[in-house]
Amino acid sequence: MTRTPLLAGNWKMHGTRQEAVALAQKLAETIGRVPGREVVVAPPFTALECVGRAIAGTQIRLGAQNVHWEPKGAYTGEIATAMLSEAGCTYVIIGHSERRQHFGETDETVNRRLHAALAAELVPIVCVGETLAERDADATAAVIERQVASGLAGASSAQIARCVIAYEPVWAIGTGVTATPGQAQEVHHAIRRQLVGLASDTTAGRVRILYGGSVKAANIDALMAEPDIDGALVGGASLDAAEFTRIVRYEEKEG
Ligand code: PGA
Repeated sequence: MTRTPLLAGNWKMHGTRQEAVALAQKLAETIGRVPGREVVVAPPFTALECVGRAIAGTQIRLGAQNVHWEPKGAYTGEIATAMLSEAGCTYVIIGHSERRQHFGETDETVNRRLHAALAAELVPIVCVGETLAERDADATAAVIERQVASGLAGASSAQIARCVIAYEPVWAIGTGVTATPGQAQEVHHAIRRQLVGLASDTTAGRVRILYGGSVKAANIDALMAEPDIDGALVGGASLDAAEFTRIVRYEEKEG
């Protein structure tokens, strides 16, 4: 089963429209067309449309950083699937650890957002990851298993096949500390095994599992050499056109 590697840039709360367009234009030139790779950028909501225009006609796809589960209503500060689709999004990041840590995101709200995204034909990038305290307490496997199971609860096998999962250890996000390729592979492999139970062998073989947490040009090759690492969700390094370009153009291990 071959999975097309997916390299996604999460711009977080960075980029006025002007800055975002400048970055998107550079990326359109350097990685607008990379055979065998899928590329997504997730700028802030206000920059979605202008970034969409800057990458039009390239293979770079547009993603959002969050989505609400209701189609509309009195939910100040939230955004609906139709608004994201209208702005040109085809992907949406769900349950990022910063949302879980700072904005009260729970496994249950992650699941509600997931179902809204699937119903709207957006590809959800569902984030899971343990904290340092959880890793130190040997709870990594249990935490990830719980987050995956509750995040995907109620999704059919066909729906799970359309999901992307991002394993992002909280202790590696924005810290400069990356999980070793071996540490990441171990968790990715466990997630894939869990997907066999939740869906099927075929689906588990299809779902892309991204690694995230201080991914940079210097460590992408080694991460991508692991059999169950199918791409990366990149924060800080995705704001630097040269870095992100090198990440997208990572080198596959020979043989
Ligand atoms: P980072 O962020 O690459 O800056 O560590 C990753 C993420 O939060 O998706």
